[in-house]
Amino acid sequence: MTSEMYSERRKALSKALDNHSTVLLFSGTAPHKSEDVDYTYTPNRNFYYLTGITRPNMILMLTKQGESVTETLFIEEANPVLEKWIGRRMTVAEAKAVSGINSVYFLDSFEAQLGRHLARKRCDAVYLDLGRASWQQPLSKAHEFAAELTRKHPYLQIRNVHRELANLRLIKSEEEINNIRKAIDITRQGIENLLANAKPGMMEYELEAYYDFPLKLNGVKEPGFTSIIASGQNGVILHYEENDQQTKDGDLVLLDLGAQYKYYSADISRTFPVNGKFTERQKQIYNIVLNAEEELIAAVKPGVTWKQLNDLAKRLLADGLKSLGLIQDDAEISRYYYHSVGHQLGLNVHDVTTLDENDPLQPGMVITIEPGLYIEEESIGIRIEDDVLVTENGQENLSKHILKTVEDIEAFMAKASK
Ligand code: GLY
Ligand code: MN
Ligand code: MN
Repeated sequence: MTSEMYSERRKALSKALDNHSTVLLFSGTAPHKSEDVDYTYTPNRNFYYLTGITRPNMILMLTKQGESVTETLFIEEANPVLEKWIGRRMTVAEAKAVSGINSVYFLDSFEAQLGRHLARKRCDAVYLDLGRASWQQPLSKAHEFAAELTRKHPYLQIRNVHRELANLRLIKSEEEINNIRKAIDITRQGIENLLANAKPGMMEYELEAYYDFPLKLNGVKEPGFTSIIASGQNGVILHYEENDQQTKDGDLVLLDLGAQYKYYSADISRTFPVNGKFTERQKQIYNIVLNAEEELIAAVKPGVTWKQLNDLAKRLLADGLKSLGLIQDDAEISRYYYHSVGHQLGLNVHDVTTLDENDPLQPGMVITIEPGLYIEEESIGIRIEDDVLVTENGQENLSKHILKTVEDIEAFMAKASK
Protein backbone atom coordinates (compact mmCIF):
# COMPACT_ATOMS: atom_id res chain seq x y z
CA MET A 1 0.00 0.00 0.00
CA THR A 2 1.34 3.44 -0.82
CA SER A 3 1.02 6.61 1.23
CA GLU A 4 -1.11 8.14 -1.58
CA MET A 5 -3.74 5.52 -0.91
CA TYR A 6 -4.05 6.51 2.74
CA SER A 7 -4.15 10.12 1.66
CA GLU A 8 -7.03 9.33 -0.73
CA ARG A 9 -8.92 7.61 2.07
CA ARG A 10 -8.52 10.63 4.36
CA LYS A 11 -9.82 12.84 1.54
CA ALA A 12 -12.82 10.57 1.05
CA LEU A 13 -13.58 10.68 4.77
CA SER A 14 -13.21 14.48 4.88
CA LYS A 15 -15.89 14.81 2.20
CA ALA A 16 -18.35 12.99 4.46
CA LEU A 17 -17.71 15.30 7.45
CA ASP A 18 -19.59 18.41 8.51
CA ASN A 19 -17.84 21.73 8.07
CA HIS A 20 -16.03 23.19 11.12
CA SER A 21 -15.26 19.83 12.61
CA THR A 22 -12.30 17.81 13.86
CA VAL A 23 -11.64 14.07 13.73
CA LEU A 24 -9.50 12.46 16.43
CA LEU A 25 -8.50 8.83 16.03
CA PHE A 26 -6.37 6.88 18.49
CA SER A 27 -4.22 3.95 17.39
CA GLY A 28 -4.86 2.33 20.80
CA THR A 29 -2.77 0.42 23.28
CA ALA A 30 -2.31 -3.26 24.11
CA PRO A 31 -5.01 -4.40 26.54
CA HIS A 32 -3.83 -5.60 29.92
CA LYS A 33 -3.70 -9.39 30.34
CA SER A 34 -2.40 -10.21 33.82
CA GLU A 35 0.06 -8.63 36.28
CA ASP A 36 2.77 -7.04 34.11
CA VAL A 37 1.85 -8.86 30.88
CA ASP A 38 -0.31 -7.31 28.15
CA TYR A 39 -2.10 -8.90 25.19
CA THR A 40 -0.43 -8.42 21.81
CA TYR A 41 -1.14 -4.93 20.51
CA THR A 42 -3.41 -4.68 17.49
CA PRO A 43 -4.04 -1.32 15.84
CA ASN A 44 -7.43 0.36 15.87
CA ARG A 45 -8.55 -0.66 12.40
CA ASN A 46 -9.95 2.77 11.48
CA PHE A 47 -6.70 4.48 12.48
CA TYR A 48 -4.77 1.91 10.44
CA TYR A 49 -7.12 2.27 7.47
CA LEU A 50 -6.42 6.01 7.34
CA THR A 51 -2.67 5.99 8.10
CA GLY A 52 -1.12 2.56 7.39
CA ILE A 53 0.58 2.86 10.78
CA THR A 54 0.61 -0.15 13.11
CA ARG A 55 2.14 1.39 16.26
CA PRO A 56 0.40 2.06 19.58
CA ASN A 57 -0.26 5.40 21.29
CA MET A 58 -0.53 7.54 18.17
CA ILE A 59 -3.21 10.11 17.39
CA LEU A 60 -4.53 11.27 14.02
CA MET A 61 -6.16 14.70 13.90
CA LEU A 62 -8.05 15.96 10.84
CA THR A 63 -9.64 19.40 10.90
CA LYS A 64 -12.09 20.64 8.32
CA GLN A 65 -12.65 24.39 7.78
CA GLY A 66 -14.51 24.94 4.52
CA GLU A 67 -12.43 23.52 1.70
CA SER A 68 -9.32 23.33 3.85
CA VAL A 69 -8.50 20.04 5.60
CA THR A 70 -5.48 19.88 7.89
CA GLU A 71 -3.88 16.55 8.74
CA THR A 72 -1.70 16.10 11.83
CA LEU A 73 -0.18 13.00 13.35
CA PHE A 74 1.10 12.76 16.93
CA ILE A 75 3.64 10.02 17.66
CA GLU A 76 5.70 8.84 20.63
CA GLU A 77 9.06 10.47 21.09
CA ALA A 78 12.18 8.28 20.99
CA ASN A 79 13.35 7.40 24.48
CA PRO A 80 16.87 5.90 24.55
CA VAL A 81 16.41 4.24 27.96
CA LEU A 82 13.07 2.64 27.09
CA GLU A 83 14.38 1.58 23.70
CA LYS A 84 16.89 -0.71 25.41
CA TRP A 85 13.88 -2.61 26.79
CA ILE A 86 11.20 -2.47 24.12
CA GLY A 87 13.07 -1.58 20.94
CA ARG A 88 13.03 1.27 18.50
CA ARG A 89 10.13 3.67 18.15
CA MET A 90 8.89 4.90 14.79
CA THR A 91 10.69 8.08 13.70
CA VAL A 92 9.02 11.22 12.38
CA ALA A 93 10.45 10.49 8.91
CA GLU A 94 9.07 6.95 8.95
CA ALA A 95 5.64 8.10 10.11
CA LYS A 96 5.55 10.66 7.28
CA ALA A 97 6.66 8.12 4.67
CA VAL A 98 4.08 5.49 5.64
CA SER A 99 1.09 7.78 6.12
CA GLY A 100 1.77 10.61 3.69
CA ILE A 101 1.04 13.09 6.51
CA ASN A 102 3.55 15.94 6.59
CA SER A 103 2.71 17.48 9.97
CA VAL A 104 4.07 15.00 12.50
CA TYR A 105 4.58 16.04 16.15
CA PHE A 106 5.31 14.29 19.41
CA LEU A 107 2.47 13.28 21.69
CA ASP A 108 3.41 15.72 24.44
CA SER A 109 2.27 18.61 22.23
CA PHE A 110 -1.15 17.08 21.44
CA GLU A 111 -3.18 18.72 24.22
CA ALA A 112 -1.63 22.12 23.61
CA GLN A 113 -2.28 21.94 19.87
CA LEU A 114 -5.85 20.71 20.24
CA GLY A 115 -6.50 23.31 22.95
CA ARG A 116 -5.16 26.08 20.71
CA HIS A 117 -7.23 24.89 17.77
CA LEU A 118 -10.43 24.81 19.84
CA ALA A 119 -9.67 28.24 21.31
CA ARG A 120 -8.91 29.99 18.04
CA LYS A 121 -10.88 28.29 15.28
CA ARG A 122 -14.54 27.61 14.90
CA CYS A 123 -15.09 23.97 15.77
CA ASP A 124 -18.67 22.75 16.27
CA ALA A 125 -18.16 19.01 16.34
CA VAL A 126 -15.51 16.44 17.20
CA TYR A 127 -15.71 13.04 15.55
CA LEU A 128 -14.33 10.09 17.50
CA ASP A 129 -14.34 6.35 16.80
CA LEU A 130 -17.08 5.44 19.27
CA GLY A 131 -17.97 2.11 17.67
CA ARG A 132 -19.08 -0.57 20.12
CA ALA A 133 -19.69 -4.12 18.99
CA SER A 134 -21.60 -4.87 22.20
CA TRP A 135 -22.96 -3.21 25.34
CA GLN A 136 -20.45 -5.07 27.54
CA GLN A 137 -17.32 -4.05 25.62
CA PRO A 138 -14.92 -2.03 27.83
CA LEU A 139 -14.74 1.72 27.25
CA SER A 140 -12.04 2.75 24.80
CA LYS A 141 -9.70 5.73 24.97
CA ALA A 142 -12.08 7.50 22.57
CA HIS A 143 -14.98 7.08 25.01
CA GLU A 144 -12.93 8.48 27.87
CA PHE A 145 -11.76 11.34 25.67
CA ALA A 146 -15.36 12.15 24.70
CA ALA A 147 -16.17 12.65 28.38
CA GLU A 148 -13.13 14.90 28.91
CA LEU A 149 -13.89 16.98 25.82
CA THR A 150 -17.49 17.51 26.93
CA ARG A 151 -16.32 18.60 30.37
CA LYS A 152 -13.81 21.10 29.00
CA HIS A 153 -15.83 22.29 25.96
CA PRO A 154 -19.50 21.63 26.76
CA TYR A 155 -20.71 23.30 23.53
CA LEU A 156 -18.94 20.71 21.35
CA GLN A 157 -21.03 18.09 19.61
CA ILE A 158 -19.47 14.66 19.91
CA ARG A 159 -20.03 12.58 16.78
CA ASN A 160 -19.28 8.98 15.96
CA VAL A 161 -17.05 8.64 12.88
CA HIS A 162 -17.38 4.85 12.94
CA ARG A 163 -20.31 4.79 10.53
CA GLU A 164 -18.64 6.99 7.89
CA LEU A 165 -15.57 4.76 8.03
CA ALA A 166 -17.65 1.59 7.89
CA ASN A 167 -19.21 2.97 4.74
CA LEU A 168 -15.81 3.58 3.13
CA ARG A 169 -14.49 0.20 4.24
CA LEU A 170 -17.41 -1.70 2.69
CA ILE A 171 -15.97 -1.43 -0.81
CA LYS A 172 -12.52 -3.00 -1.09
CA SER A 173 -9.76 -1.71 -3.35
CA GLU A 174 -7.59 -3.95 -5.50
CA GLU A 175 -4.84 -3.84 -2.84
CA GLU A 176 -7.24 -4.82 -0.09
CA ILE A 177 -8.59 -7.72 -2.16
CA ASN A 178 -5.03 -8.90 -2.77
CA ASN A 179 -4.33 -8.82 0.97
CA ILE A 180 -7.42 -10.98 1.55
CA ARG A 181 -6.25 -13.35 -1.23
CA LYS A 182 -2.90 -13.66 0.53
CA ALA A 183 -4.57 -14.31 3.91
CA ILE A 184 -6.69 -17.00 2.24
CA ASP A 185 -3.67 -18.63 0.62
CA ILE A 186 -1.83 -18.84 3.95
CA THR A 187 -4.99 -20.31 5.49
CA ARG A 188 -5.05 -22.89 2.66
CA GLN A 189 -1.49 -23.93 3.48
CA GLY A 190 -2.45 -24.33 7.14
CA ILE A 191 -5.54 -26.40 6.36
CA GLU A 192 -3.62 -28.67 3.97
CA ASN A 193 -0.90 -29.26 6.57
CA LEU A 194 -3.56 -30.08 9.16
CA LEU A 195 -5.37 -32.51 6.84
CA ALA A 196 -2.11 -34.14 5.77
CA ASN A 197 -1.18 -34.96 9.37
CA ALA A 198 -4.57 -35.70 10.95
CA LYS A 199 -5.05 -39.10 12.61
CA PRO A 200 -7.83 -40.42 14.87
CA GLY A 201 -6.90 -40.10 18.53
CA MET A 202 -5.09 -36.80 18.12
CA MET A 203 -6.07 -33.96 20.40
CA GLU A 204 -7.82 -31.04 18.75
CA TYR A 205 -4.89 -28.83 19.78
CA GLU A 206 -2.47 -31.14 17.98
CA LEU A 207 -4.44 -30.56 14.79
CA GLU A 208 -4.29 -26.85 15.57
CA ALA A 209 -0.50 -27.03 15.85
CA TYR A 210 -0.28 -28.44 12.29
CA TYR A 211 -2.47 -25.55 11.11
CA ASP A 212 -0.43 -22.97 12.98
CA PHE A 213 2.95 -24.04 11.59
CA PRO A 214 2.53 -22.75 7.99
CA LEU A 215 1.05 -19.54 9.42
CA LYS A 216 4.15 -18.94 11.49
CA LEU A 217 6.34 -19.78 8.47
CA ASN A 218 4.52 -17.00 6.63
CA GLY A 219 5.07 -14.48 9.41
CA VAL A 220 1.51 -14.56 10.73
CA LYS A 221 1.93 -13.83 14.44
CA GLU A 222 -1.68 -14.52 15.30
CA PRO A 223 -4.73 -15.48 13.27
CA GLY A 224 -7.56 -13.04 12.48
CA PHE A 225 -9.74 -14.73 15.12
CA THR A 226 -9.49 -17.64 17.54
CA SER A 227 -9.20 -20.94 15.65
CA ILE A 228 -12.07 -23.40 15.92
CA ILE A 229 -11.08 -27.10 15.76
CA ALA A 230 -14.25 -28.92 16.78
CA SER A 231 -14.37 -32.72 16.66
CA GLY A 232 -17.46 -34.90 16.94
CA GLN A 233 -20.06 -33.45 19.27
CA ASN A 234 -18.17 -30.15 19.59
CA GLY A 235 -18.97 -29.40 15.94
CA VAL A 236 -22.52 -28.35 16.84
CA ILE A 237 -21.21 -25.50 19.04
CA LEU A 238 -20.86 -22.59 16.63
CA HIS A 239 -17.98 -20.77 18.32
CA TYR A 240 -16.28 -23.68 20.12
CA GLU A 241 -12.75 -22.49 20.96
CA GLU A 242 -11.44 -24.85 23.66
CA ASN A 243 -9.78 -27.20 21.14
CA ASP A 244 -8.77 -29.52 23.99
CA GLN A 245 -10.66 -32.76 23.31
CA GLN A 246 -9.41 -36.01 21.84
CA THR A 247 -10.64 -36.92 18.36
CA LYS A 248 -12.13 -40.37 17.86
CA ASP A 249 -12.12 -42.69 14.88
CA GLY A 250 -15.25 -41.85 12.90
CA ASP A 251 -15.42 -38.21 14.06
CA LEU A 252 -15.95 -35.33 11.72
CA VAL A 253 -13.80 -32.30 12.55
CA LEU A 254 -15.20 -28.83 11.85
CA LEU A 255 -12.51 -26.22 11.19
CA ASP A 256 -13.23 -22.49 11.19
CA LEU A 257 -9.96 -20.68 10.56
CA GLY A 258 -8.51 -17.47 9.20
CA ALA A 259 -4.96 -16.25 8.87
CA GLN A 260 -4.49 -12.51 8.56
CA TYR A 261 -2.22 -10.63 6.20
CA LYS A 262 -1.54 -6.93 6.83
CA TYR A 263 -4.46 -7.17 9.27
CA TYR A 264 -6.87 -8.39 6.55
CA SER A 265 -8.47 -11.64 7.65
CA ALA A 266 -9.52 -14.79 5.86
CA ASP A 267 -12.50 -16.73 7.24
CA ILE A 268 -12.71 -20.33 6.05
CA SER A 269 -14.67 -23.32 7.35
CA ARG A 270 -14.05 -26.88 6.26
CA THR A 271 -15.26 -30.16 7.72
CA PHE A 272 -13.41 -33.47 7.28
CA PRO A 273 -13.37 -37.02 8.70
CA VAL A 274 -10.41 -37.42 11.03
CA ASN A 275 -9.78 -40.95 9.72
CA GLY A 276 -9.78 -39.77 6.09
CA LYS A 277 -13.04 -41.41 4.99
CA PHE A 278 -16.60 -40.04 5.28
CA THR A 279 -19.30 -42.53 6.35
CA GLU A 280 -22.27 -42.79 4.00
CA ARG A 281 -24.38 -40.78 6.47
CA GLN A 282 -21.73 -38.07 6.90
CA LYS A 283 -21.41 -37.85 3.13
CA GLN A 284 -25.19 -37.43 2.72
CA ILE A 285 -25.34 -34.50 5.12
CA TYR A 286 -22.06 -33.04 3.88
CA ASN A 287 -23.29 -32.94 0.30
CA ILE A 288 -26.48 -31.16 1.32
CA VAL A 289 -24.38 -28.40 2.88
CA LEU A 290 -21.92 -28.37 -0.04
CA ASN A 291 -24.63 -28.15 -2.69
CA ALA A 292 -26.34 -25.36 -0.75
CA GLU A 293 -23.05 -23.52 -0.36
CA GLU A 294 -22.25 -23.70 -4.07
CA GLU A 295 -25.75 -22.60 -5.04
CA LEU A 296 -25.53 -19.70 -2.57
CA ILE A 297 -22.17 -18.59 -3.95
CA ALA A 298 -23.60 -18.69 -7.48
CA ALA A 299 -26.45 -16.43 -6.30
CA VAL A 300 -24.06 -13.69 -5.13
CA LYS A 301 -24.11 -10.69 -7.47
CA PRO A 302 -24.68 -6.94 -7.30
CA GLY A 303 -28.22 -6.14 -6.16
CA VAL A 304 -28.74 -9.31 -4.13
CA THR A 305 -29.54 -8.71 -0.44
CA TRP A 306 -28.56 -10.54 2.75
CA LYS A 307 -32.26 -11.22 3.31
CA GLN A 308 -32.47 -13.05 -0.03
CA LEU A 309 -29.29 -15.04 0.69
CA ASN A 310 -30.48 -15.97 4.19
CA ASP A 311 -33.88 -17.08 2.88
CA LEU A 312 -32.23 -19.10 0.11
CA ALA A 313 -29.88 -20.80 2.59
CA LYS A 314 -32.78 -21.90 4.78
CA ARG A 315 -34.77 -23.15 1.81
CA LEU A 316 -31.87 -25.15 0.31
CA LEU A 317 -30.91 -26.73 3.64
CA ALA A 318 -34.55 -27.48 4.46
CA ASP A 319 -35.07 -29.12 1.05
CA GLY A 320 -32.04 -31.31 1.70
CA LEU A 321 -33.17 -32.41 5.14
CA LYS A 322 -36.73 -33.02 3.92
CA SER A 323 -35.35 -35.35 1.25
CA LEU A 324 -33.68 -37.35 4.03
CA GLY A 325 -36.84 -37.34 6.16
CA LEU A 326 -35.08 -35.51 9.01
CA ILE A 327 -37.65 -32.71 8.92
CA GLN A 328 -41.13 -32.46 7.49
CA ASP A 329 -41.56 -28.78 6.86
CA ASP A 330 -39.34 -25.73 6.25
CA ALA A 331 -39.86 -24.13 9.66
CA GLU A 332 -38.15 -27.06 11.38
CA ILE A 333 -34.80 -26.10 9.80
CA SER A 334 -34.01 -23.83 12.77
CA ARG A 335 -33.41 -26.98 14.80
CA TYR A 336 -30.42 -27.91 12.61
CA TYR A 337 -29.26 -24.55 11.21
CA TYR A 338 -29.12 -21.59 13.58
CA HIS A 339 -26.92 -18.80 12.29
CA SER A 340 -26.92 -16.41 9.38
CA VAL A 341 -25.33 -17.31 6.10
CA GLY A 342 -22.51 -14.79 6.07
CA HIS A 343 -21.07 -11.36 6.78
CA GLN A 344 -18.70 -8.73 5.39
CA LEU A 345 -14.99 -9.58 5.60
CA GLY A 346 -11.95 -7.29 5.71
CA LEU A 347 -9.83 -5.66 8.40
CA ASN A 348 -12.13 -7.38 10.90
CA VAL A 349 -13.34 -10.93 10.46
CA HIS A 350 -16.89 -9.69 11.02
CA ASP A 351 -16.14 -6.52 9.15
CA VAL A 352 -17.81 -3.20 9.82
CA THR A 353 -20.91 -2.56 7.74
CA THR A 354 -23.72 -0.11 7.22
CA LEU A 355 -25.84 -2.57 5.23
CA ASP A 356 -29.32 -3.49 6.36
CA GLU A 357 -30.66 -6.88 5.39
CA ASN A 358 -32.57 -5.38 2.45
CA ASP A 359 -29.68 -3.30 1.07
CA PRO A 360 -28.12 -4.51 -2.18
CA LEU A 361 -24.63 -6.00 -2.32
CA GLN A 362 -22.28 -3.99 -4.54
CA PRO A 363 -19.17 -4.77 -6.61
CA GLY A 364 -16.03 -4.62 -4.47
CA MET A 365 -17.65 -6.05 -1.35
CA VAL A 366 -16.08 -9.17 0.14
CA ILE A 367 -18.41 -11.46 2.06
CA THR A 368 -18.46 -14.94 3.51
CA ILE A 369 -20.93 -17.65 2.52
CA GLU A 370 -21.17 -20.24 5.28
CA PRO A 371 -24.19 -22.54 5.52
CA GLY A 372 -24.03 -25.39 8.02
CA LEU A 373 -26.01 -28.26 9.50
CA TYR A 374 -25.67 -29.30 13.13
CA ILE A 375 -27.28 -32.63 14.03
CA GLU A 376 -26.55 -33.07 17.69
CA GLU A 377 -28.18 -36.49 18.03
CA GLU A 378 -25.78 -37.85 15.40
CA SER A 379 -22.66 -35.90 16.51
CA ILE A 380 -22.55 -34.29 13.10
CA GLY A 381 -21.56 -30.63 12.80
CA ILE A 382 -20.78 -29.43 9.29
CA ARG A 383 -20.05 -25.90 8.12
CA ILE A 384 -18.50 -24.97 4.80
CA GLU A 385 -17.37 -21.36 4.41
CA ASP A 386 -15.78 -19.52 1.52
CA ASP A 387 -14.78 -15.89 1.00
CA VAL A 388 -16.48 -14.29 -1.98
CA LEU A 389 -15.82 -11.07 -3.90
CA VAL A 390 -18.84 -9.37 -5.45
CA THR A 391 -17.84 -8.45 -9.03
CA GLU A 392 -19.57 -6.30 -11.68
CA ASN A 393 -21.32 -9.30 -13.19
CA GLY A 394 -21.51 -11.80 -10.38
CA GLN A 395 -18.91 -13.07 -7.99
CA GLU A 396 -15.49 -14.63 -7.59
CA ASN A 397 -14.92 -17.30 -4.95
CA LEU A 398 -11.57 -16.15 -3.57
CA SER A 399 -11.07 -19.41 -1.65
CA LYS A 400 -11.96 -21.83 -4.43
CA HIS A 401 -8.50 -23.43 -4.21
CA ILE A 402 -9.14 -24.87 -0.75
CA LEU A 403 -10.11 -28.57 -0.74
CA LYS A 404 -13.86 -28.96 -0.47
CA THR A 405 -15.54 -31.93 -2.16
CA VAL A 406 -15.80 -35.33 -0.43
CA GLU A 407 -13.72 -36.87 -3.22
CA ASP A 408 -10.96 -34.24 -3.09
CA ILE A 409 -10.69 -34.35 0.70
CA GLU A 410 -10.56 -38.17 0.78
CA ALA A 411 -8.04 -38.35 -2.07
CA PHE A 412 -5.81 -35.71 -0.46
CA MET A 413 -5.85 -37.46 2.92
CA ALA A 414 -5.26 -40.91 1.39
CA LYS A 415 -2.26 -39.63 -0.55
CA ALA A 416 -0.84 -37.81 2.45
CA SER A 417 -1.08 -40.87 4.70
CA LYS A 418 1.03 -43.04 2.35
N1 GLY B 1 -15.26 -17.35 12.12
C1 GLY B 1 -16.48 -16.82 12.56
C2 GLY B 1 -17.47 -16.82 11.49
O1 GLY B 1 -17.40 -17.63 10.59
O2 GLY B 1 -18.32 -15.97 11.42
MN1 MN C 1 -15.66 -18.59 10.03
MN1 MN D 1 -17.61 -16.26 8.95
